[in-house]
Amino acid sequence: MAIADSPIIVALDFSSPKAALELARTLAGTPCQLKVGKELFTRAGPAFIEKLHQLGFKVFLDLKYHDIPNTVAKACLAAAELGVWMVNVHAWGGSRMLMAAREAVDKSSHSPLLIAVTVLTSLEQADLHEIGIHDSPENTVLRLAQLTQNSGLDGVVCSAQEIALLRKKISPDFKLITPGIRPAGSAQNDQKRILTPVEALQAGSDYLVIGRPITEASDPYVALQNIIQSCP
Ligand code: C5P
Repeated sequence: MAIADSPIIVALDFSSPKAALELARTLAGTPCQLKVGKELFTRAGPAFIEKLHQLGFKVFLDLKYHDIPNTVAKACLAAAELGVWMVNVHAWGGSRMLMAAREAVDKSSHSPLLIAVTVLTSLEQADLHEIGIHDSPENTVLRLAQLTQNSGLDGVVCSAQEIALLRKKISPDFKLITPGIRPAGSAQNDQKRILTPVEALQAGSDYLVIGRPITEASDPYVALQNIIQSCP
């Protein structure tokens, strides 16, 4: 598997930049990309992203921007100028916000993949009801994924259960990025509905976000190698 084409995105969910960098050094040269989220980015900032680039990684900056179109567009441009490979926004910001983000990212010479979050998997029917959404989570995911595609973005983050539904209704080149992945035999942790890496890829996922099965393994390098070898 070529490094640049690897479908595996390791979630660097650490509060300590030192621990995150240590893991990145351990995984350098293996076929995977890295995801940096709100906590680590807030602690370590753009300089940390630069360190990951120097180690040869492509970085998914998972900050889920959601604000007025002008603010999100400028944040996306700033992310693109950091040279990240993938950046995301909330589809709930609506089509004007999504299109403004698209336009901003296209202005950058780096032009990262621009994806959206539809419905957070932490939200259940009752939570949606509470905020005035009376449609089912599945229909809401589909509607927001279609809005994201129609707004010109490259893909969405979706749960493993949503892959089949989205693949039926959305164009094949629209990227699906899927957390909730657990290699056979590894701890489920707090993820509710999981798929193995192979199952998720066979169902039509393009990228697998995997955290604790690698970051908390006794040997993260071996854990990643085993996942890579299990992939088709
Ligand atoms: O450790 P684990 O493999 O469960 O980590 C999954 C990663 O994917 C975490 O960074 C988590 O925040 C993220 N994520 C998720 N479910 C979503 C969206 C993102 O687990 N719906």
